[in-house]
Amino acid sequence: MKHIAIVTGASSGIGRHFVYQLVKDKKCSQVEEIWIIARRRERLQQLKQKINQHSSVSIKIFALDLQNKESIVQLKKELEKSEAVVSYLINAAGYGKLGSFFSGDFEEQIGMIDLNVKALSSLTHIVLPYCICGSHILQISSAVAFLPQPNFSVYSATKSFVFSFSRALRQELRKKNIWVTVVCPGPVNTEFFQRAQWNPSKKFYPPIIRASATSIVKKALSDAHHCKELSICPPLMQFFYVLSKLVPHRFVLNTFYHFNQRA
Ligand SMILES: NC(=O)c1ccc[n+]([C@@H]2O[C@H](COP(=O)([O-])OP(=O)(O)OC[C@H]3O[C@@H](n4cnc5c(N)ncnc54)[C@H](OP(=O)(O)O)[C@@H]3O)[C@@H](O)[C@H]2O)c1
Repeated sequence: MKHIAIVTGASSGIGRHFVYQLVKDKKCSQVEEIWIIARRRERLQQLKQKINQHSSVSIKIFALDLQNKESIVQLKKELEKSEAVVSYLINAAGYGKLGSFFSGDFEEQIGMIDLNVKALSSLTHIVLPYCICGSHILQISSAVAFLPQPNFSVYSATKSFVFSFSRALRQELRKKNIWVTVVCPGPVNTEFFQRAQWNPSKKFYPPIIRASATSIVKKALSDAHHCKELSICPPLMQFFYVLSKLVPHRFVLNTFYHFNQRA
């Protein structure tokens, strides 16, 4: 049986760095093939070429729109044909749109639920039959999952779903030694901010709260290998997590409303 890893959102940012790290990390050496998923085929082809120059791990490209139900059906059929064992599922595809829920583009708002929630849950569901003892599922949530974010309302709610769903799923799967880790990064310099139409200026995001995609991914894989429930990075976000449990949310919602409006 072939051991595979499946990475969504592999065409850029955090997902792409997961692919680099999976081929580099000795603890992932059982992975023989990586399925890389995103819409932009040419980006996936570039990634495949780059990996092929340095590694013998085979790369299979799936240029799919995960907001489309048919894409999940296609992946389910591919899994049935493959007889593979899924050692890693990394759900990194996602986007956020900043702005008011009412005046923002409705399709974009609902699209976040389709991708960040429905596609992530569907993919997790079709992959589970191929997971075995020691398999890892890494769900990319966000530090915005910790408390509601006015002017980023749908996005933060989708990430709260990922946070809550994945922690509960972890409990359901732990008897089988299938390990779910929820990854909650703070701001990371990726194409995410262009799509969000957000200007991550240094004023708003000093280096202490920003992290590189490489550091997020290294920590996430290390935390997964230690079977940790949460992977929160950079360290200041861990403080933010604790604070979000202590401070009544109604006291900070107004601050976030103004912060997200000015971003
Ligand atoms: N950057 C941050 O500050 C930050 C912080 C916390 C959490 N996150 C989360 O981290 C994850 C990765 O984000 P990123 O920062 O790496 O952003 P990114 O560079 O914009 O990457 C997003 C990925 O999702 C893919 N994607 C978007 N829509 C898709 C669709 N309909 N079907 C299939 N794939 C789709 C994109 O590929 P195509 O466009 O080629 O389809 C791309 O590969 C997201 O879930 C995001 O919410 C990001």
